[in-house]
Amino acid sequence: MSTTIAGPGAVDTDRLNALLGLMIGDLGATFNAGLVVLGDRLGLYRAMADGVPVTVEELARRTGTSAIYLRPWLSGQAAGGYVQYDPAAGTWSLTPEQSFVLAQPESPAFFAASMQLALATLRDVDQIEECFRTEAGFGWHEHDPELFEGTERFFRPGYVESLVGTWLPALDSVVAKLEAGGRVVDVGCGHGSSTVLMAQAFDRSTFLGVDYHEASITVARRRAAAAGLDGRVTFEVADASSLPPGSADLVTMFDCLHDLGDPAAAARAARGLLGADGTLMVVEPMAGDRIEDNLHPLGRVFYGASTMICTPCSLQQEGRRALGTQAGPAVLSSVLRDAGFGRVRVAATSPVNLVLEARP
Ligand SMILES: C[S@@+](CC[C@H](N)C(=O)[O-])C[C@H]1O[C@@H](n2cnc3c(N)ncnc32)[C@H](O)[C@@H]1O
Repeated sequence: MSTTIAGPGAVDTDRLNALLGLMIGDLGATFNAGLVVLGDRLGLYRAMADGVPVTVEELARRTGTSAIYLRPWLSGQAAGGYVQYDPAAGTWSLTPEQSFVLAQPESPAFFAASMQLALATLRDVDQIEECFRTEAGFGWHEHDPELFEGTERFFRPGYVESLVGTWLPALDSVVAKLEAGGRVVDVGCGHGSSTVLMAQAFDRSTFLGVDYHEASITVARRRAAAAGLDGRVTFEVADASSLPPGSADLVTMFDCLHDLGDPAAAARAARGLLGADGTLMVVEPMAGDRIEDNLHPLGRVFYGASTMICTPCSLQQEGRRALGTQAGPAVLSSVLRDAGFGRVRVAATSPVNLVLEARP
């Protein structure tokens, strides 16, 4: 039954209750970001990865944590559908899918790090509030360092799944060049997941990863050394807009073009980095061209990231273009065409990514 309550306007109680129900879900999800980070950091999910039911005491013993804290944590996880509870046996377990998503960092569907990323941005709400008032920016480098690690851990499984097997083969003649021995520049490389994965796949090619964030470049160098790729892979601190001309076969930009203050200048720099027959690959969050195309759960995630990370990052840099995560293929393509790329197309898509190929 629908009734109205006196107030600033006519309130439909059904719609009101539906909205409150939505917010209760969101409130639980917001708390759950902290619970997932705890489960990930403390190895709680990993200790249950085999799917064998455990008691609270057994999980406490395995993980060196307190059963008193584990009880509400496990109950909250079960209430949210992240863990199974068997009331008769008093045990807790992960289904294969829960294990895949929460307990296995190498699985292509590993999602626990998404909460590490999201929670890191929530620590900066005060600074972003001030940005709303002043239109100032807040650089990538100014965020809580958990953002950098969370981004690496969250994005890497998708790159493992798609980069070498799907995205590069979708580009015209790039794989053949890299197999023969090409030169690749990975712009905005962060911790270097994409650079290292490409280098592991193409052992005749050389790779340069660049990022303006020095701390990320330090980590990327460690990742390359750990992978035994020293020599063929180098990382340098550099701004995407001011890279010296070169003769690379492939320039890549993974989830960074929209973060830049001046994406047009970065696209021109990428054009200058490439030889006459080179290719720029731009990987961006999946988006439609119109706001109304993006009003769904994934669009909500991306608009959240856009507000907290990407827009302030761009506004902190010269150019202040603030493309945002949901720029969409039409705007992205026009940025690339204006930079001198004559042939621009969407070469591949995944549920979360848009892969653009741009050629001179
Ligand atoms: C969302 S992260 C993506 C990192 C990495 N490409 C990945 O996919 O894991 C965006 C990256 O762009 C970098 N970045 C932002 N502005 C930059 C600029 N002007 N020049 C170079 N890198 C920049 C940030 O430091 C950050 O590492």
